[in-house]
Amino acid sequence: MPFSTEENLTDLAVERWSNIPDPRLRKIMTSLVKHLHGWVRDIEPTEEEWIAAVNFLTETGKICTDKRQEFILLSDTLGVSMLVDSINHRLSSKATPTTVTGPFHIHDSPEIADGQSMSGDAPGIPCFVEGKVMDFDGKPLGNVMLDVWQTDGEGLYEAQVEASNAYMRGIYHSKADGSYVVRTVAPIGYTIPLDGTVGGLFGKTNISPYRPAHIHFLLDSPGFHRIITHLFQKGDQYIETDVVYGVKEPLIVEFVKKKTGEKAPGGEVMTTPFYVVHYDFTLQKLSQAKAA
Ligand SMILES: [Fe+2]
Repeated sequence: MPFSTEENLTDLAVERWSNIPDPRLRKIMTSLVKHLHGWVRDIEPTEEEWIAAVNFLTETGKICTDKRQEFILLSDTLGVSMLVDSINHRLSSKATPTTVTGPFHIHDSPEIADGQSMSGDAPGIPCFVEGKVMDFDGKPLGNVMLDVWQTDGEGLYEAQVEASNAYMRGIYHSKADGSYVVRTVAPIGYTIPLDGTVGGLFGKTNISPYRPAHIHFLLDSPGFHRIITHLFQKGDQYIETDVVYGVKEPLIVEFVKKKTGEKAPGGEVMTTPFYVVHYDFTLQKLSQAKAA
């Protein structure tokens, strides 16, 4: 075993980290060492820069809590979350595509009956999202779980407001004919949290920190590929520059403006202007996923 030189260090470290019985962990660690060394050789950091990088990661960890995940935000804004999502959900083009989960999903949202509101008295313009859940043959899928979460009309998630109950989230189920109606308020575009380490880094760039307005959905049904996705508002000024690279074209939908006095899905005559969004989700069978 030779002693280290600048030239042979990468080979030495890769060889050392090859000494792992588990082949998957061996692949992960040797590749990590190779790429990390490549990065360091490329940028040739000063010792101060290297300490700054260590401090950045340390501070990023300190910000994380049960409700805030700065590392996920870092992964999202570097495009890594979308890359991992894309690799893990290579679905048919017939299926509703997936996109990032993001840092704001909260488990165990309350069950909400079809057509009922998940927004309570949150600020915002009333908005109905309706459509069907179906398979590739257009067969309606009943009792599919739709776990929905989003910002209120001021761009805030539950984790960002003082909420004693579930806020801007709920679990719906499609009816036997595959149909669903979510009643909520329209989300708006928002910036990622800028008061943490990721925000500090963005402050040194000209990169837009905004996400276009969107509603998050998690759809789950036995025998089908579980999907996590968003519906994005067509025409949003940030649709082409989503800070987390989450926008896929089939997920851009029209938020159709309706006037006072018009009927909402479900028949209620509305006393304020509102939006209606139509989207049919198409789920891929697990057997089809295997074939693909
Ligand atoms: Fe979001």
